[in-house]
This record gives sequence, structure tokens and C-alpha cells, in this order.
Amino acid sequence: MKSGLKTQILPAGTAATASAARVLAGGGLVAFPTETVYGLGADAGNATAIAHLYQAKGRPAFNPLIAHVGDLDAARRIARFDSVATRLAEAFWPGPLTLVLPKTENCPVANLATAGLDTVAIRVPAHPIAREILRAFGRAVVAPSANLSGHVSPTTAEHVRSDLEGGIDLIVDGGAVNVGVESTIVGCFDEPMLLRPGGLPRDEIERVLGRALMRPPADAESDNGQPLAPGMLASHYAPRTSVRLNAERLAPGEALLAFGPHAIEGIDAAVTVMNLSARGDLDEAAANLFGYLRALDAKNARTIAVMPIPQDGLGEAINDRLRRAAVGRE
Ligand code: TXA
Ligand code: MG
Repeated sequence: MKSGLKTQILPAGTAATASAARVLAGGGLVAFPTETVYGLGADAGNATAIAHLYQAKGRPAFNPLIAHVGDLDAARRIARFDSVATRLAEAFWPGPLTLVLPKTENCPVANLATAGLDTVAIRVPAHPIAREILRAFGRAVVAPSANLSGHVSPTTAEHVRSDLEGGIDLIVDGGAVNVGVESTIVGCFDEPMLLRPGGLPRDEIERVLGRALMRPPADAESDNGQPLAPGMLASHYAPRTSVRLNAERLAPGEALLAFGPHAIEGIDAAVTVMNLSARGDLDEAAANLFGYLRALDAKNARTIAVMPIPQDGLGEAINDRLRRAAVGRE
């Protein structure tokens, strides 16, 4: 992906925000922190910039992007909100929730960013730096996670640098993000559907809706035959090392991704051990997940063995990402 482009890295602040807005307006690519993971932003209305974005990530162009805006009013210019969508937006924005909605007639988001779908994914991030950049730029910014396609999402500026340096214009370094897994995606179709578990736990959404979210069948298609959640390619979040889930004991040569206060059999022979949360806190575990997967992947162990993780709260998103990391490798 290296294109000989010089990537500037700036600490977050007024100067970085101004540079980010300038780069976006000029059709360039800016990585910036959101509360979930770092995003790689481009002007949502600039198809050339978006083509460069797909190229920098090595991302298939049939996988559409999320439009980021500053508030619900800006979102209404892009997408049509029914009562369910309005209720969710009012309850959870700004925050780690993405809504998939029908595009407005004059939707300013380029077709390339929505992969030709008649729906658009949209979110209002809560991170102060993301919000400042959106305010300074003044228009929608499309931003996938700022990693090479197929790698785990970045939770620090250093992760972004190691994946994308030389292929993008600017990285705004705002330190480690606080949620650590990507936004929850809800499709506001006839029945609201959970397209991707993420940083907003399902039960909080269901409490506001007063009903259960549907789960799309694995091969669900929209009316025009395109996949409903096109990004949910089975092995999207793969580290290079194979991943083994629900480990109850450790085999020689394995690295351990632990969870909770208890040791497991064979732990003394582990290549290395990282504990997502020694006190068994799922929010802490989500924040550590992608960074620890990257660190363990660098140890060249035979396998990364992962201890069982409960399914409640952010556990649903953590287990979803871990299953994807393990696909075809178990
Ligand atoms: O937390 C996040 O959501 C981060 C930060 C940067 O905002 N972004 C992120 O973007 O995770 P990305 O591109 O890695 O994932 C976006 C997901 C993909 O799975 C894509 O297929 C799905 O959103 N998506 C986008 N537009 C869609 C649409 N119209 N219908 C269904 N799924 C859509
Ligand atoms: Mg991604």
C-alpha cells in the first residue's frame, strides 16, 4: 500500500484539527480517533478521495463505508429517519451506534462510498477529536476503521501508522481509544436488525425499542440482491497466527489471551500471556482486545489460545470479533 506519500503524524489539538479539515477538503485521507476505533476519513462527497481510501486500505469496493456527521440534523440530510431510527438516534447519539437507513433523494454521500446500495450507514461519533474535526470540516466524512483490510481495527495511532504509513496524508494522534470495538450497526428495515454487534450492547438498544433486535440470516440479501451487512466477511478480523477459542488448557507453544482472575492448566508453559481483564470486566476487555491481538500476533506463537468470555454486555461484540479471527483456523 505504500505510495511514497509522506504521512504526517500530529498530536491532537487545534493545529491538528485545522490540518485535518484542510486535508479532507483537498481530497486527502486523515486517520483520527473515534471512541470505538481509529477511523480513516475522506470527504463523503468526493468520489476520487473515496477511491484512494479503498486503495489505501486494500478494501474491496463492494464493502460500503460509514458516513460520520456531527449531529442528527446533518444526518437527516443524508438519510431518511422513521420513528424507530429517530428514537435510536435520540437515545444513543453521539455514541457507538451506526444506523443503516434509506438514502435521501439528494444524498450528498458519493455512490462509491455506499457501494451502489440505496441505503447508507451513518453515525455521530462521541470522541471529542472526531467531533472537532467534523465541525471544522463542516460536511460528512466517510471513515472505515484505519487498518489494512483484513487486519484487526486500530485502537492507537501507532496501530494506524504500522498499517497505513506512506499511503495516507495525516494521522491525528489522540491516544488510545476508550471503547475498543467498532460501533454496533442496526439496520432500520421493516424489523430493526442487529447487523453487527459492537460498542453499544444489544440489551441497551432493545430496552429503548421495547423489543428484540432481529439477527439477519448469515446470507441475508437486500431487495436488490446485495448482502445486508457486506462487511461481515467471515474472516475479516484475522491475525496471522491461528486463533483457538474457549481454551480450557494450554498446549506447548501457544500464547494465551486470558480473561478473568483464574489461571488455566498449562499456563506456565505459555509463550506469553495477556489478560484482557484480570478482574473480569467486559468493558476493559473490549478496550484491550485489538491491541492485545496485535501484540500476541507479533510473538510468532503456534496458536493464540483464548479463554472463554461471557456473552453479556460487550461480550457479544468481543466474541463476534474473536470468532472472525478464528474462522478457518481452528
Ligand atoms: O466504530 C466504527 O463503526 C468505525 C469507526 C471508524 O466509526 N468504523 C468502522 O467502519 O468500523 P468499517 O468500514 O470498518 O465497518 C463498516 C461496516 C462494514 O461492515 C460495512 O459493510 C457496513 O458497515 N455497512 C456500511 N454501509 C452499509 C449499508 N448501507 N448496509 C449494510 N452495511 C453497511
Ligand atoms: Mg473495519
